[in-house]
Amino acid sequence: MAEQKDKVVLAYSGGLDTSCCIKWLQDEMNLDVIAVVGDVGQEHDGLEKVKEKALRVGALECIVVDMRQMFAQEYLTKALAANAMYENKYPLVSALSRPLISKHLVDAAHKFGAKYIAHGCTGKGNDQVRFESSITMLDPSLKILAPVREWNLLTRPDEIEWAQAHGVEVGVTKDSPYSIDDNLWGRAIECGVLEDPWIEPPADIYTMTADPMQAPDQPEYVELTFARGVPYAINGNQKSYLGIIYELNEIAGKHGYGRIDMIENRLVGVKSRECYEAPAGMALIKAHKALEDLVLEREVLHHKLALEQTWANCVYNGQWFSPLKEAIDAFMASTQRCLYGTIRLKFFKGSCTVVGRKSAYSLYDQGLATYDKGDTFNRDAAKGFIEIQTLSTKTWAVNRRQEGAPAELFDAQNEKGPLKRGRYEGVTPLSRQEPAAEAHKETE
Ligand code: ARG
Repeated sequence: MAEQKDKVVLAYSGGLDTSCCIKWLQDEMNLDVIAVVGDVGQEHDGLEKVKEKALRVGALECIVVDMRQMFAQEYLTKALAANAMYENKYPLVSALSRPLISKHLVDAAHKFGAKYIAHGCTGKGNDQVRFESSITMLDPSLKILAPVREWNLLTRPDEIEWAQAHGVEVGVTKDSPYSIDDNLWGRAIECGVLEDPWIEPPADIYTMTADPMQAPDQPEYVELTFARGVPYAINGNQKSYLGIIYELNEIAGKHGYGRIDMIENRLVGVKSRECYEAPAGMALIKAHKALEDLVLEREVLHHKLALEQTWANCVYNGQWFSPLKEAIDAFMASTQRCLYGTIRLKFFKGSCTVVGRKSAYSLYDQGLATYDKGDTFNRDAAKGFIEIQTLSTKTWAVNRRQEGAPAELFDAQNEKGPLKRGRYEGVTPLSRQEPAAEAHKETE
């Protein structure tokens, strides 16, 4: 009787790394491999071909899952509610897809009765953390394998040699010098010449966005209409959120909007140079923020800004399914209840500008804001407001002057001002003290 092997579910992309993973899991771990291919909106030429390859390399089974609708509805709605930007720059493209893929891996493990889940991430990046944290939070009993972190194939040529020796087909397509990960929300490009932060990104790294210099000479206006913080119409035509993301990727991309070139702090402690293009994601966040500016009460808006950073850090760090991230989602959802309205964007040669906004829930009151006729603001109340608002710091300022503190401590303009007698007598102002010996040496 043939021995019954344990099963492993592998996140499979069709590339060399994950193809070698199939073989490695079979040969080194003696496991049957179930490959899961996810469609998260990445560029591809047929996922059925990817499935055929998995089976040719030796997977017992391969399932192709269209995750796009769920990605838009459950992940990208929350990212938009949180205006999610890690380090105020990166719209979390890859970080958002990992928990979604993990969810499907765990579902497949349950369906096929697999004890193990495997991924093809390296041991240096964020994605390994995101997969493993997500899987663990969804089902802590599953065991996780990371072949690429374990095998000793450190360079590309080593890996190709191993693949050939083990009968894993090596694609004839020209090898990209970059590491790329893409989905509906954008595209991440790393490695190759980009590892030198002084080198300008070569033009050919970008595929979703046009070179702004080659973009149309006429601007294009786009109106986005939102309900509960999610867009449901573009230029007056109702569409699913997924459909709007696709359309905006086209429009914003055509005008060269959404490129990012940054140094990023990875969770594992490494600074890395990252290039991204996220035309739809960036435009949607810009429009969404503009609507919040109009609709959210000031204190809610200010608190939300702080929580947005925490949310982005959580998701970047693989905490999508954590209780903290879920609690922040509840706050975010509460802020989105009245987020109805329309934002007009103008795209032109690499830029996207908010040029119009309206909402039935707008808190913008023209009577209060105007400097023209019809002013309803009570200027007389301002005087008393300032008096009370300033009282605490005024008390402090009067006290310091009476005590005769060195004037420069509270008045930079008056460094050599008269030092009154009092508590601070004999204190040498910092600026007149001798510089420390070390600092002194350096200037010599
Ligand atoms: N640095 C980005 C992140 O951590 C992008 C990662 C992209 N992954 C890749 N395999 N190229 O989210």
